[in-house]
Amino acid sequence: MIDQLLLNNRRWAATVKQENPNFFIELSKQQTPKFFWIGCCDSRVPANQIIGLMPGEVFVHRNIANIVNNADINCISALQYAVDVLKVRHVILCGHYGCGGVEAAIHGEGHDIIDYWIWDIKAILTRHEKLLSQISPDAVSHFMCEVNVIEQTYELCRTKVIREAWQREQPVSVHGWVYGIHDGLLQEVIPHVNHQTDIEQMYDAALTAVSQKYLSQP
Ligand code: CO
Repeated sequence: MIDQLLLNNRRWAATVKQENPNFFIELSKQQTPKFFWIGCCDSRVPANQIIGLMPGEVFVHRNIANIVNNADINCISALQYAVDVLKVRHVILCGHYGCGGVEAAIHGEGHDIIDYWIWDIKAILTRHEKLLSQISPDAVSHFMCEVNVIEQTYELCRTKVIREAWQREQPVSVHGWVYGIHDGLLQEVIPHVNHQTDIEQMYDAALTAVSQKYLSQP
């Protein structure tokens, strides 16, 4: 089974080279991606494939439940490299419906170290306790996956890296999306935040929209 992966690789590299003989040579000299993707580890949400981009076009960081935490040196280092060095124009925070990390937080399932990792999501659940009590139990998972996108995008906008980029007027937009593993489609939860002063308004608008969407469901 594992040998198949190496065979797949040979075939893929040959196909790419057939279309553009210099593809890998050109790419090996430098990377100039315009996008930075922060997504979930889930195998069903592969960044490049779902947004139709080739190697070299998107810088990627993935962790369980697409969490942005200032104390996470891994995520913040990737963000800093993407924004300060690669000078990406867009940072996309992408969650997905049916996220195991979000659902583990909802159901309080214990998985030792993962429990610590999803602590931030448990805090989000507590923050929106009142709203959650009004959502139909069937819709709680979808609702929370979207709320998690809003909260993590908010945290992303408040990182030192993004704030300083905006302060020096570097053009960088932050986006919050959710992906449907059931239909392969992306939806905007937060269309874009381009400036420090827009954060609160975008957060409130997105939370209101998501609340209305799920509160109106029977
Ligand atoms: Co997930």
